[in-house]
This record gives sequence, C-alpha cells and structure tokens, in this order.
Amino acid sequence: MSNTTAGTSNAISTNSDPLWETLRARARIVSSEEPSLAPLLDEFVLIHPTFEKALALRLSAKLVYHSERGGHLHDMFSEAYESDKSICQNVRRDLEAIMERDPACDSVLTPFLWFKGFQALTCHRVAHWLWNNNRQHFARYLQSMVSEVFAVDIHPAARLGGGILLDHATGFVAGETAVIEDNVSILHDVTLGGTGKEKGDRHPKVRRGVLIGAGAKILGNIEIGECSKIGAGSVVLQSVPPHSTAAGVPAVIIGEAREESPSLTMDHCI
Ligand SMILES: CC(C)(COP(=O)(O)OP(=O)(O)OC[C@H]1O[C@@H](n2cnc3c(N)ncnc32)[C@H](O)[C@@H]1OP(=O)(O)O)[C@@H](O)C(=O)NCCC(=O)NCCS
Repeated sequence: MSNTTAGTSNAISTNSDPLWETLRARARIVSSEEPSLAPLLDEFVLIHPTFEKALALRLSAKLVYHSERGGHLHDMFSEAYESDKSICQNVRRDLEAIMERDPACDSVLTPFLWFKGFQALTCHRVAHWLWNNNRQHFARYLQSMVSEVFAVDIHPAARLGGGILLDHATGFVAGETAVIEDNVSILHDVTLGGTGKEKGDRHPKVRRGVLIGAGAKILGNIEIGECSKIGAGSVVLQSVPPHSTAAGVPAVIIGEAREESPSLTMDHCI
C-alpha cells in the first residue's frame, strides 16, 4: 500500500480490505489530478465506508436513468451483497482478472468507474441471486436495464464462475442454460446461444481458462473444453476438446492451445 494515502483527512479504516484501500488511494490521486472529477470521485468512492457500499451506488447510478425510481435498485444491490457474500468475492476476482489481463487497464479504479464489461457482469451476479431467490421479475427487470445500458444480455439463470473478463463487452449474449467457469476471458460480440432446434438444456458450457475471440458464435449444448481458444468470428457448432484451438465458419480444430491457460495470457496467436 502506497504512503500517498496515509493521514489524509477523508481516510476511513480500510485495514482489512486491500482492494478497497487501493481503489480509494487511486481515487484520491485522480481527484487531485483532475479537480473537475473530484465531486464524482467523492460520490462514487471516497464518501463510502466499504467497497460493497460504493459498488451498490455506482451500479444503481448507472442504471437509474433507465428506471423510474433509483432508490429501490440501490437497496436491492445492498441486500444482495449482504445476503450472499460470494457475489462480491467473485466481483473482486473479476477486478483482479481485468488488472492482470487487460493491458488497457491502468488501475482498479478504471474498471470500477468506467468498464461496462465489469459493471454488466456485476449486475448479472445480482440478477442471478434474485433469480435463485424466486424473484424472477426483479431479475428480468435488471437484465433488461443492463441490456439497454451496457448492450450486454445475460439471462439471469446463466451460471458464471469468478475471475471472468468481459473485454469491451458490447454485444455479449449468454442464454439461460449457459455456463461459464472460472478464469474465462471473452471479447466483445460473442454469443453463447442455442441453435433454435433444442429445448431445455440448450446452451454452451465453457470450461475454465478458455479464451473466446471477438464475434465468436457458440451455439448449442456443446462444451468448450478447459483452456481452449476460439478464434474471432468463428461459428462453433461442435464441442471443442480441452487445450485446443478452434476457428472458422463452421469452426474446426486447427491446433493445440499450448499455454496452461489462454484466458490468462490473452495470447490470441494460433
Ligand atoms: C441452426 C443452425 C445451427 C444450423 O442448423 P441445421 O440447419 O440443422 O444445420 P446442421 O447443424 O445440421 O448443419 C448443417 C451444415 O451446415 C453447417 N452450418 C450450420 N450452421 C452454420 C452456420 N451458422 N454457418 C456456417 N455453417 C453452418 C454445419 O457445419 C453443417 O456442415 P456439414 O454438413 O459440412 O457438417 C444454424 O442455422 C444457425 O446458425 N442458427 C441460428 C442460431 C442462433 O442465432 N442462435 C443464437 C441464439 S441467442
């Protein structure tokens, strides 16, 4: 932890939360470098006592323009974080994933404030909690607002692990029975959809460590084996074995994915 934050007047005890401490330290620096953003940094970061409270306000403020009322969203986010601690554990893993894998990310403050992939994913985690607690209408309401605000449409029932990077995120779609395991990286305009020919369990299962290139369409109840790579623009209609690279329309296996985890290295080479 840098000494730059020590002894500042608006310091709130953050001893047990290094991520929150880092986020606040960065917000203070940006606040002094860009004074016109200081009120925004106060409102979204510095006045809050915890990461979870700041996150609830950031997301509800983003969505409020598309909602008749704002307060109920803030309360709902806070309730979700309070009642299911795994939500924010996964959110923290997502932030770490962005920091590690996205060269365009200079500090943890950047995705927290500005990256819609992170924000949409975080909203989905809450929509999934609502869905699993028999609050399907609120879940759908959240899904619909997220789709309008971020151009990301994830069915609330879709099951997502932690440490996921949705890079750029525009146009990402995941269906009801889709599964995305831990440490997966997904570029923009990717579909995890059905073929339209199946009912029930009909969407892809993406195993851990997979890297999916921009514009890939993965259709049907097929499995993308762990640590595989899917080339940009591919249409994948068949399961892909672990540690393989698939590309093309329709996609074929074109080689091995030799890295231990392509999603972590973000190495798009074939
Ligand atoms: C439904 C669909 C997968 C094809 O179904 P189908 O007509 O039964 O065809 P099959 O799966 O039997 O495939 C027939 C051939 O066409 C190829 N093919 C199928 N869909 C293709 C596509 N989208 N692009 C290129 N080739 C395609 C298959 O590889 C197969 O080739 P082969 O005979 O050499 O093996 C395809 O038309 C499609 O893309 N549907 C849209 C689904 C969608 O948009 N889902 C998103 C929901 S969010």
